[in-house]
Amino acid sequence: MAIERTLSIIKPDATARNITGKINAVFEDNGLRVVAQKRLWLSKKQAEQFYAVHAERSFFGELTDYMVSGPVVVQVLEGESAITKNREVMGATNPANADEGTIRALFGQNVQENSVHGSDSPENAAIEISFFFAQTEIVG
Ligand code: CMP
Repeated sequence: MAIERTLSIIKPDATARNITGKINAVFEDNGLRVVAQKRLWLSKKQAEQFYAVHAERSFFGELTDYMVSGPVVVQVLEGESAITKNREVMGATNPANADEGTIRALFGQNVQENSVHGSDSPENAAIEISFFFAQTEIVG
């Protein structure tokens, strides 16, 4: 096991309901440390660039509209196997399928408004972290 970093986004459905602290508490209770964090309102262009891997999917337009519908909190989480750990802590993409106690089961509203995003691989974690953060902004 190794200490890793992963990119997390607390999405507009969660900022709208003022539950960013509750979500951070779940990360911290599961051994993930918030080592960088900022609140942003993404532009449509930023959302389209960030989710470019999904550009051909039928839900791309809805997804990017949703991601610019309110502020987000972008974060770097650090911990043992942080990429896998964060995906466990988030739960399945669709909150209806998410295990009990996961963030999406606790707070997600539907497959789109699912409260959090997390990187899915070490390669994407590095790309996604550098999309939002300079190295000097990450303080472990
Ligand atoms: P995320 O982990 O951020 O990665 C891509 C996002 O697309 C996903 O969470 C959901 O918010 C959204 N998404 C995935 N599948 C669907 C779908 N079938 N319909 C609408 N949005 C989806």
